[in-house]
Amino acid sequence: MTEDVLSLVDEWGPEKVVCVSDRRSGMRGVLVLDNTARGMGKGGTRMSPTLTVREVARLARTMTWKWAAVDLFHGGAKAGILGDPRAADKEAVLRAFARALRNEVPAEYAFGLDMGLTEDDAAVLLDELGDRGAAVGLPRALGGLPYDELGVTGFGVAEAADAAAAESGWQLAGSRVAVQGFGAVGEAAARRFVELGATVVAVSTAAGAVHDPDGLDVARLSRLRADVGDDCVREYGGVQPADTALTAPTDVLVPAAREDVVDDAVALATTARLVVEGANLPTTSSARKILAKRGIPVVPDFIANAGGIVAAAHSMDMRRSPFRVDPDDVFPMISTKLRANASAVLAEAKRTEDTPHAAAHRLAQQRVLAAMRLRRQLPPDTTLEPLP
Ligand SMILES: NC(=O)c1ccc[n+]([C@@H]2O[C@H](COP(=O)([O-])OP(=O)(O)OC[C@H]3O[C@@H](n4cnc5c(N)ncnc54)[C@H](O)[C@@H]3O)[C@@H](O)[C@H]2O)c1
Repeated sequence: MTEDVLSLVDEWGPEKVVCVSDRRSGMRGVLVLDNTARGMGKGGTRMSPTLTVREVARLARTMTWKWAAVDLFHGGAKAGILGDPRAADKEAVLRAFARALRNEVPAEYAFGLDMGLTEDDAAVLLDELGDRGAAVGLPRALGGLPYDELGVTGFGVAEAADAAAAESGWQLAGSRVAVQGFGAVGEAAARRFVELGATVVAVSTAAGAVHDPDGLDVARLSRLRADVGDDCVREYGGVQPADTALTAPTDVLVPAAREDVVDDAVALATTARLVVEGANLPTTSSARKILAKRGIPVVPDFIANAGGIVAAAHSMDMRRSPFRVDPDDVFPMISTKLRANASAVLAEAKRTEDTPHAAAHRLAQQRVLAAMRLRRQLPPDTTLEPLP
């Protein structure tokens, strides 16, 4: 470690950093509880050969804002193991990590999935502590829900878009949607857009794009994806360059593949009246400014793609329940939360003449600050300005 862990602490947190190691397995890891003013710390557990305490602390802070932005009562936390997730001794390392954190888990933290960890790993972590409350993200046979298979995030993206269109004074039903990326997020979003009465005019994968101004047959594309993956666009027929999904005439643009794809050129050229960020960080900061100047609202990633974290919060709640988590309970929850959040953030952005990203961050920080004040965690006369 090249820096003092205490230098990570600022007025928000972290409240607790627990570094653990085990000589027998060689396990080294860390748990960071960032800010729990609004509730118990929650965030995934990752395993990576380049993991650092700073990285985990930064991710824990991001979780503090995400939970508050979505208005769910969890605090920010994250855990990480330094190591190769493909190593043969992974199970021994996971077990040592769980044992080393038995004072904190499940009282203050529950393991969850992030980079390098699978549902089977969550089962091992739970087994080691012998407590159903120790982990979420479990396999179906242990009561977990396969979120990507169900498409919870994509479903939420379309719900957020519907509310954002209404907030902007027009209807999603009957309008055109272009979706970049037809993976777990993009495919489920496209399906929900169709259910909500929109016309999906363009879809792309890394293998290319398909475009039809009269509307694509999304159900057929989904079936093809199940068979041939990214090549579904080739099988569909009339494949075009992948960028077509970003440039095709549309009312709603949904980047749901990767970061930084909505750049200045796309922001200047798009006909979209609304951009909904399905992927993480798909819009560059300079493109966001261009879109703001053009009066095109952008529903920020951590608002639009929060379906997964709403589902994770529900799983947290259900950890000790003998009943299975029911998808029919989860979808309405995602719909209600994401619609309310998308509307609130766009309304706040309009009120403060700010970008929706800035408005969402401010809302989140104000919520955390209010909780800290009410718990008397700040001296009464403190006027802590939310960080920019
Ligand atoms: N899965 C989730 O629940 C979830 C939740 C929040 C955020 N995200 C974010 O959403 C994004 C997509 O995640 P996912 O789980 O759907 O991934 P995925 O791997 O299932 O799908 C990615 C899709 O993007 C396509 N793609 C890649 N490069 C492309 C390009 N240049 N042009 C067009 N298409 C391209 C791929 O072919 C694939 O169809 C990522 O940024 C991810 O971090 C995912």
